[in-house]
Amino acid sequence: MGLVWSIRETLIWKSGFTKFMDLLRRTVFVPVMESCVRRPDRPRTTTMKLLYNICMRPSEIRLITRILKKRGPCRFLVFGLGNDSTYWRKVNRGGRTVFIEDDPVWLQRVTGEDPIMEAYLVEYGTERHQWRELLDRPASLPVLLPSGILEDEWDVVLVDAPNGMRQSSPGRMKSIFIASVLRADDSDVFVHDCNRPVEMAYSERYLGNGAFLGQVGRLRHYSYGPDTGSSVNRQETLVVWIPAVTSLQSDC
Ligand SMILES: C[S@@+](CC[C@H](N)C(=O)[O-])C[C@H]1O[C@@H](n2cnc3c(N)ncnc32)[C@H](O)[C@@H]1O
Repeated sequence: MGLVWSIRETLIWKSGFTKFMDLLRRTVFVPVMESCVRRPDRPRTTTMKLLYNICMRPSEIRLITRILKKRGPCRFLVFGLGNDSTYWRKVNRGGRTVFIEDDPVWLQRVTGEDPIMEAYLVEYGTERHQWRELLDRPASLPVLLPSGILEDEWDVVLVDAPNGMRQSSPGRMKSIFIASVLRADDSDVFVHDCNRPVEMAYSERYLGNGAFLGQVGRLRHYSYGPDTGSSVNRQETLVVWIPAVTSLQSDC
């Protein structure tokens, strides 16, 4: 009897907690994010960062938001799902926002909370400690991606994944290289965590060439116009790359 009573109490408590969280989400969290989408000033981005437990600094969020708004609805490719993903999707309302994620559990969790998010699972197959040997081997840097992503050109690319904290983490060698291949001629590329050697070295190697516009916090901003030089030839790379990726896909 005591056990039944305590199970019943637990269920009532749990359903009350769920209802409370849902109310909090509808009355506080969502309105804060929506207001930040409309007016991303310092107090709003700071409040959103704290409420949603977003890792990026408010100044970094504001810089990316400003570029997305300047471009209007655009094709926005984001490496990494985070607590900020729904915000990016909302800022680019009317455009196409696609997320690339390598952690299946995290992908399921984030897309479960925001089911209209377009996100794909990838496998990088690298470990961060390989970064020096891979730096000048672009042929080793492709990743299996859906053809709808490879064949599109992206107006804004944000590289905020995969994890690059430990020697055994995948590191961002491939995601930075892919950003350099898939960006449109007229585009903006952001790389986060550029206080770390891998992010710095790969950004300089593959995104540089006069496109570096500045750094806010740990976020580097590269801006390209039709005449900006590139260390990567998109057409040449994709001609080799797309058949390779397609044949890999058909093996799965
Ligand atoms: C560097 S975080 C992105 C953080 C995001 N931009 C933010 O400001 O909140 C991106 C990567 O961390 C990994 N990750 C795993 N678990 C996570 C968690 N609980 N919170 C955030 N990121 C997580 C994911 O694989 C994801 O690709």
